[in-house]
Amino acid sequence: MKILLTCVALVYGTAFANDASSARRLFDETSEQKSERLAWWMHDRFGMFIHFGLYAIPARGEWCKMTEPVSDEKYDEYFRLFNPDLLDARDWARRAKAAGMKYAVLTAKHHDGFCLWDSKFTDYKVTKTPFGRDVVREFVDAFRAEGLHVGFYYSLLDWHHPDFTIDMCHPGRPKMAKKWEFYGTSDKDFPTLNKNRDMAHYRQYMKDQIGELLTKYGKIDILWMDFTYPEPNGKTHLDWDSEGLLKLVRSLQPQVIVNNRMGLYDTADGWDFVTPEQFKVCEWPTVRGERVPWEACQTFSGSWGYHRDEMTWKSDAELIELLVHSVSKGGNLIMNVGPNARGEFDARAKTKLDVYADWMRVNGGSVYGCTQAPNRFKVPEGTLLTYDPNAQKLYIHLVSYPGKSLTVAFGDEISFARFLHDGSEIKFSKMQSPPENRLYSHGGEGKWQLSLPAIKPDIVIPVIEVVLKYAKLD
Ligand code: GLC
Repeated sequence: MKILLTCVALVYGTAFANDASSARRLFDETSEQKSERLAWWMHDRFGMFIHFGLYAIPARGEWCKMTEPVSDEKYDEYFRLFNPDLLDARDWARRAKAAGMKYAVLTAKHHDGFCLWDSKFTDYKVTKTPFGRDVVREFVDAFRAEGLHVGFYYSLLDWHHPDFTIDMCHPGRPKMAKKWEFYGTSDKDFPTLNKNRDMAHYRQYMKDQIGELLTKYGKIDILWMDFTYPEPNGKTHLDWDSEGLLKLVRSLQPQVIVNNRMGLYDTADGWDFVTPEQFKVCEWPTVRGERVPWEACQTFSGSWGYHRDEMTWKSDAELIELLVHSVSKGGNLIMNVGPNARGEFDARAKTKLDVYADWMRVNGGSVYGCTQAPNRFKVPEGTLLTYDPNAQKLYIHLVSYPGKSLTVAFGDEISFARFLHDGSEIKFSKMQSPPENRLYSHGGEGKWQLSLPAIKPDIVIPVIEVVLKYAKLD
């Protein structure tokens, strides 16, 4: 056990602390126990998000009911028509696995309140639509069969539940409040709008549903709760009773890994990881000065739910870079797919998953079990570094291909270098100072050069694997 814990601490550079000194605690789990609980997830690094629901039919993103807004009558039509007849969760799972993803999180319920499982606490669920099948059940069975960990996304917001009080993120918000305008609007309409709504009932509803999800589908690895928005006329953790909810979660599935969006920010253990959304962090995120586990959540095109007309899909290189970027800062990436209203990943999503599949098949070694490189390895220009502390290997990702040679400052530590994709040797030598260098300095003096082919290998982002001097060769 001790050896395992030492390994976990080594792999992640520093065991992440919960900073017991300044934050209150809800549970008595130690920092080591938490590291152990999260070890598989931090090792695996790469997951698939699946946003699927009624909003696949309008195909304008999962927020359309609120942002446009779409009327209740119109949205009901989507419910009456929902029939994703081509849905094959095994196909989703096979594609996730091929892409190198090791876990998947499905929207069991999104903000519109529609449930993808046969909940006994509502009729607003998939089994009451023409489709009639329990998508959550098919999802967990299919992904487990492919050896992936499974998780549920559960929306704290609910635009359908009659007791969920209308707030600034609700389609029924006062007309004067423009979309996203959280501040400066009048509160006076909210009490009237909410006079027949009782959040206490809704809190119980959430507990009942989370109870179902965590007892009827076997071991659940991740719970992705979304989200808390304490702005004026928003909601805080007290509105959800996040503490009570989390205690329930931990009592039913102690091992489950939970994100931070229940809003228990003042606690040391009311969350397991933080969730930067659709942006690249500048450094490994910290909480109260300590590095914490984190996961970037990202989309192929900007939309989570299927968006037919969204054309700003990320390039192949951008997608690979997003993954490597997270790992190079000690984090994970969960990349989203929004299946269409027939239940399929559309052609664009399949193509982009293939980009990951092709790259990960040969380069996965620079992702799994890797983390941020120690500071002494100065990041060469145009590259991203990851580091495998167990194998003591460094991975240089050539995000911008440097041409015939790459200059690195840490040559003294290199014992061997090769391209990861084909295993071919890369020679390296200390930079010689040519006579003309008496005239000018180029900054590379005393550094090392790795000799590369002048033409970039046919790999979206080529990776150089560096075996460090003190490492055992495998
Ligand atoms: C946001 C959005 C939501 C999406 C989620 C994923 O909170 O409201 O639509 O599911 O982020 O990170």
